[in-house]
Amino acid sequence: MSGTKAYGPRTEAWRKLERAAREVPSIARLFAANPMRFERFSAEAQGILLDFSRQRLDETALAALLELAEETGVGGWIERMFAGEAVNTTEKRAALHVALRRPAGMPLASGGEDVMPLVEAERVKIRRMADALHAGELKGATGRAIDTVVNIGIGGSDLGIAMALQALAEHRRPGLAVHCVSNVDGVALAHALAEADPETTLFVICSKTFTTLETLTNAQAARAWLLEHGGEAAVAGQCAAVSTNHEAMDGFGIAADRRFAIWDFVGGRYSLWSAVGLTTALAIGSEHFDALLNGAHHMDEHFETALPDQNLPVLLALLGVWNRNFLGIPVHAVLPYDDHLARFPAYLQQLEMESNGKSVRRDGGPVECATCPVIFGEPGSNAQHSFFQLLHQGTDPVSADFLLPARSLVGRQDQQDLAAANCLAQAWALAAGDPSGDRSADPSTEGFRTNSVQNPSAEGSRSGSASGAPAPDPHRSCAGNRPSTLVLFEALDPATLGKLIALYEHKVFVESVIWDVNPFDQWGVELGKRLASGLAGAVREAGDDPAMVAGALVRLRELKDL
Ligand code: F6P
Repeated sequence: MSGTKAYGPRTEAWRKLERAAREVPSIARLFAANPMRFERFSAEAQGILLDFSRQRLDETALAALLELAEETGVGGWIERMFAGEAVNTTEKRAALHVALRRPAGMPLASGGEDVMPLVEAERVKIRRMADALHAGELKGATGRAIDTVVNIGIGGSDLGIAMALQALAEHRRPGLAVHCVSNVDGVALAHALAEADPETTLFVICSKTFTTLETLTNAQAARAWLLEHGGEAAVAGQCAAVSTNHEAMDGFGIAADRRFAIWDFVGGRYSLWSAVGLTTALAIGSEHFDALLNGAHHMDEHFETALPDQNLPVLLALLGVWNRNFLGIPVHAVLPYDDHLARFPAYLQQLEMESNGKSVRRDGGPVECATCPVIFGEPGSNAQHSFFQLLHQGTDPVSADFLLPARSLVGRQDQQDLAAANCLAQAWALAAGDPSGDRSADPSTEGFRTNSVQNPSAEGSRSGSASGAPAPDPHRSCAGNRPSTLVLFEALDPATLGKLIALYEHKVFVESVIWDVNPFDQWGVELGKRLASGLAGAVREAGDDPAMVAGALVRLRELKDL
């Protein structure tokens, strides 16, 4: 599909941005020149504030980035995605995750057919099951009420569920144990089964394809456990599945009324909103699940209608492109200052890297610019005490998103206030740095003062020795100039979580347009999967071991048999 007027590196705006990057001052100098940067370099919509005043970005660069969005046809691509066109060009499919959170009464056609009746029919089934569970009316094969749910899935059939379960912990109905099982090694399943009662456990097998090795291995082990304790009736009564593959569900023994549909127009990593989110809905209840969907829908409406310079996903994407392509920053950290969002960085790793970790353009030619950076992260407080050292003083620059709720939903507010203070202090320190390596800023040093962080515009070395103050210490100095964006919101309720996820989904889409890659396929992960299936036998017994891993296989077999 064409539609891109020109792709990123071939635009006039790209040249302007290269010039702008050569000329842009440091963040500290930008602030010294305009202490009111926040007024210009922030945007708020849908209860979410993007404060990008601590990005190394000036008016010239921002204007050129907006031109880049225009020249690459971002607006047209947004229209095509919402119109159900086949924006997943390599697989010739629409990408209609936006349909999954759209109100039932708003038609959305793909290939001439309104998909909303299909979507709503599954939503009704999800609500019905969640309501029955919470009423104690969802029973196992022996008639006892279900009190444990085990989700079996991986990648997009696991990460969103696991992330949302933790993010919405305060909205979960008490008394229901929920486990997520993904890795093939069997550890998580063993732990879940150790705590579960075979008469009261429901397995939700999530696999769009129903061919994924990890999921099928865990699902078969769960099936064997049910068979052992309750026979075929337990399998039929206590397994639900979400898949496009009816033949495989037949083979597994999934009862007709326990099947949930998903469609080719929904990519795995965009499927949390569909029946793939069933376990989330069971845990938080249908009302909160609907609120999650509504939140995302509101962000969709904002994305579809807001002008680019006020459009949060567009702005977030442009900041990503600026840092990656023009400031040459290869790594991006995601730092939530709320323990509820502990799995959010892992979720974004798949969303961003599986979508945009590509080096081939839509037309098959090689890309002419860097694409997705490496995404990683941890909740901020923990991260401060592990890898922030590298963020402040490492040799490679890292950009960051700080995510911060103003209000605690569970802890003491005074503790969340401390989290906020730390979050802002870190963003400040990364931007301003302390090139003097001022010893007086060290609490262990006599005469400790906090001036090094109170003066963000301080640049260059402060001479200390003449005035009797300690000499600058290169080991303590922080160069600063590390860009970050603050994503601030009131509190992490279901609607806000929906908005945040949709914000990042659309950010990824806009970046893909500028880089001219298809964000909806993932061919790169197939090779490893193919090779693994060929190696399963070789791990068990010696044969014609492939040279690339022959030595490792020999030693592995020896160690297993010790
Ligand atoms: O790892 C590749 C991938 O295809 C992901 O995109 C997907 O989310 C995951 O595997 C699981 O796939 P499925 O839902 O088909 O089991």
